Amino acid sequence: MTAEQHAATRRHAGRRALVTGGATGIGRSTVGRLGAEGAAVVVNYIGDPAPAEEAVSELDEAGGKAIAVQADVSNEEQVVSMFSRAREELGGPIDLLVNNAGIEKPFLLVDMPLEEWNKVIGVNLTGAFLCAREAARGMIDAGVPGAIVNISSVHEQIAWEQFGHYCASKGGMKLWAGTIAKELAPHKIRVVNVAPGAILTPINRDLIEHPEKRAEVEEEIPWGRMGKPEEIAATVAWLAGPEAEYVTGTTIFVDGGMTQYPHFH
Ligand code: BGC
Repeated sequence: MTAEQHAATRRHAGRRALVTGGATGIGRSTVGRLGAEGAAVVVNYIGDPAPAEEAVSELDEAGGKAIAVQADVSNEEQVVSMFSRAREELGGPIDLLVNNAGIEKPFLLVDMPLEEWNKVIGVNLTGAFLCAREAARGMIDAGVPGAIVNISSVHEQIAWEQFGHYCASKGGMKLWAGTIAKELAPHKIRVVNVAPGAILTPINRDLIEHPEKRAEVEEEIPWGRMGKPEEIAATVAWLAGPEAEYVTGTTIFVDGGMTQYPHFH
């Protein structure tokens, strides 16, 4: 291993990370990657604790440190108490937040119940805001630099029928991230969005289980295949690290070229 590779593998040593929705999919992969690179990691989850606990034991066994904390990111009280517990147990403020928790469920505009609209906006957008606010308060109070990485989507740019709420949450995330990047730059806190395309995770179970639907989606990807969660985790790990110091207020698309609209001629 070269000196550079070695440094890259430990580039998050001494940091305290929190990954929302960290028990499954892109979140789980990101927990593993940041932990392997030396960060102590809070695995946020909701519902069944088993997958989050599994992620924690995996890191423990590899010599890392992690804790699982249940919280609904759209609930202010639960977010505030998750951050204070993280601070107590990890001995300082979170300096690397990955806003990964996200949900989606298709409805045409004319059929969209308000409750479903609110749920998606609540988790995907309000949840990111609540967690970023707590993380930024902690870093600013302690005078610690850091990074906030939001898992956005190609749908911060590509309109998607039946997913108006989801597109609104991701489009909102784009300008919100730019705005807070400006506010937080003087505190040496960077804010970056990572926009995955179609990735092999539980949110895409339907595509994974139906080869014909998957083939249709893969037609929309110049690279010709769905992405892997590790490919997103690797991007997050680089973006949150020192080599990406000059990257803030922008979105990095990791989508096999999906945003180039392969069928538009
Ligand atoms: C959605 C996936 C979808 C992908 C590409 C993601 O943001 O979560 O369900 O396959 O975008 O359309």
